[in-house]
Amino acid sequence: MTLFKDMLGSDESLFKNELALEYSFMPKILPHREEQQRHVAACVKPLLIGKNGKNLFIYGAPGIGKTAAIRFVLNELEEETDEVVPIYINCWQKNTTFKIIVEICEILGYRLTHNKRTEELFAVIKNMLNKKAAVFAFDEIDKLEDFDFLYAILEDIYKKTVLLITNYSDWIENLDDRIKSRLMSEMLEFKPYNLAETRDILRQRSGYAFVPNVLDKDAFEMIVKKTADAQDMRLGMYLMKESANIAEDKSCRKITLGHAEEAVKKTDNFTIKKSSDLIEDEQKILEIIKKNTEKKIGELFDIYKAKGGDLGYKSFQRKIDKLQKNKFVTVKKTSGGKDGNTSIVKYASPTKKLTEF
Ligand SMILES: Nc1ncnc2c1ncn2[C@@H]1O[C@H](COP(=O)(O)OP(=O)(O)OP(=O)(O)O)[C@@H](O)[C@H]1O
Ligand SMILES: [Mg+2]
Repeated sequence: MTLFKDMLGSDESLFKNELALEYSFMPKILPHREEQQRHVAACVKPLLIGKNGKNLFIYGAPGIGKTAAIRFVLNELEEETDEVVPIYINCWQKNTTFKIIVEICEILGYRLTHNKRTEELFAVIKNMLNKKAAVFAFDEIDKLEDFDFLYAILEDIYKKTVLLITNYSDWIENLDDRIKSRLMSEMLEFKPYNLAETRDILRQRSGYAFVPNVLDKDAFEMIVKKTADAQDMRLGMYLMKESANIAEDKSCRKITLGHAEEAVKKTDNFTIKKSSDLIEDEQKILEIIKKNTEKKIGELFDIYKAKGGDLGYKSFQRKIDKLQKNKFVTVKKTSGGKDGNTSIVKYASPTKKLTEF
């Protein structure tokens, strides 16, 4: 019998390394961001010869390699020297001065942070870092709730480069004048990739992710085109992964254009990537879920109402659906139990949001 010859065996996979399609995966080289990496490196360079570094404000749309490029430069710096300490902080995850200071202590290997005040901990950091030099990268800076740490760093750490990274070019305009004048940063814009650049980047990623020759050329080209139109590399990774999953579910040995088209159909809501793109009501609901994660939808509705929310229950549910579709929350349906059928809504932390597709 040859009936099953062309089918994928149950122990076979189209993936060589599925993790390569996670957004946090770091490829060995980062094509088409050489110039930006060089610019960042030039700001850091004075630190290597005992001088003060330059600060840089980095901005650009989502999914175009800002975080990846910064992490690359910091990794290389770490390889190069012990005298300049790289400190990368995601301000969506660490959004207050206290959380950031504790995180910097963690990075520096100082663990006795319990029950200590922010000022005490900053004194520890200052003491450690002023023996060396430091590069601070504050990513997703627009998610911060306060800026005291930034002022403290600019004032009290002597040899440093501060990198601020965001999607919004005008964010810096609203910064407190005292911080702005101490920052004196240059600006670096990341522009979206064109079609050819997008193709290179996705080709590299598919090479890491798939067994050779399983991704049909026309499927790949379609994904490249969609990704270049959306100007967000994450879409390409999502589409490659989804089309491969669809092909595997059908036991196919090849990922075809048809599979890729099916994957595209699942992405209708992909356009909203940032919580700041949500309208006010949705942001308010997301905030409530963040503070009350893993609660029943009815309980969340009560909290929303108590805070003066004016949507009805049905509209509230629709908002939760939308947040779920855009991966800001996950919803688990439970049946039976003392409450009958209900939905438990969980806040998707930023890293989860970026890797869970
Ligand atoms: N030049 C490139 N080469 C290889 N991979 C890239 C390149 N640019 C982006 N990527 C990949 O695309 C994904 C998104 O990139 P990244 O996380 O750096 O985006 P970002 O600009 O920081 O977006 P956001 O503003 O949403 O944080 C990552 O998986 C990253 O590895
Ligand atoms: Mg980023």
